[in-house]
Amino acid sequence: MRTPLVVGNWKMHRTVAESVALAGAVADGGLPGGVEAAVCPTFLALAAVRERLSGSRLGLGAQDCLWPDEGAFTGRVSARMLASEAVRYVVVGHSETRGRFGGNQVSPSVAATFADTDETVRLKLQAVVHHGMTPVLCVGETDDEREAGRTDEVVTRQVVAALAGVEAKSLAVAYEPVWAIGTGKTCPADEAQRVCALIRDTLGAERGDGTHVLYGGSVKPDNAAELFGQPDVDGGLVGGASLEAESFLAIVRAAAQR
Ligand code: PGA
Repeated sequence: MRTPLVVGNWKMHRTVAESVALAGAVADGGLPGGVEAAVCPTFLALAAVRERLSGSRLGLGAQDCLWPDEGAFTGRVSARMLASEAVRYVVVGHSETRGRFGGNQVSPSVAATFADTDETVRLKLQAVVHHGMTPVLCVGETDDEREAGRTDEVVTRQVVAALAGVEAKSLAVAYEPVWAIGTGKTCPADEAQRVCALIRDTLGAERGDGTHVLYGGSVKPDNAAELFGQPDVDGGLVGGASLEAESFLAIVRAAAQR
């Protein structure tokens, strides 16, 4: 049985001081046993949050990275730099970095200039593994792809492309249907289970068994228990509800009871 995992993705929310306070409130708020939990603050707050979490069971994660160790990449942060800050998890291929940055705040043509491709997701994932961290690979279909009945094809393609030629000792894959992210629309638990099982199958027997397959997209305290009650849903990747200690802890507790 895999230990459940819950990762909070704070996106571009919270200043450094606010991040330290939030991480502290989660760490001191009664993390249950039998579950792994981590938070992903802004890059700017990683060092301060790491210090605040020293000695705590709450893990540190980052939201993205670039694969070269260093170089002329203005404004970017490498996997090597994250590893040197004791980052344990790195989100890779989030639908926002795949070109849906900022929801409606950014026009699609501007958002596309930030866009990851299957190839950049693979390179990022490879770098995260190389530096000894755990990638949290995000995959999922858009509303249009779902309407067209292409969910399985899209998810399978994204998993296979991201992992081609990569041997990851520790891996999490989050099924994040794009239409459920930040919208309040949750994927029905039986559909989340179906796609998470497909992801595990796609990974193959050996790798699938050791991988945390998570669900993400409008996970809240009141739907977490049902989602995490599914046999192939090993926990969650949580956005909005991870920005308050109490709601995040309630979700972590639901995962601990699975
Ligand atoms: P949400 O975000 O929980 O706010 O829907 C999930 C995510 O983007 O990982």
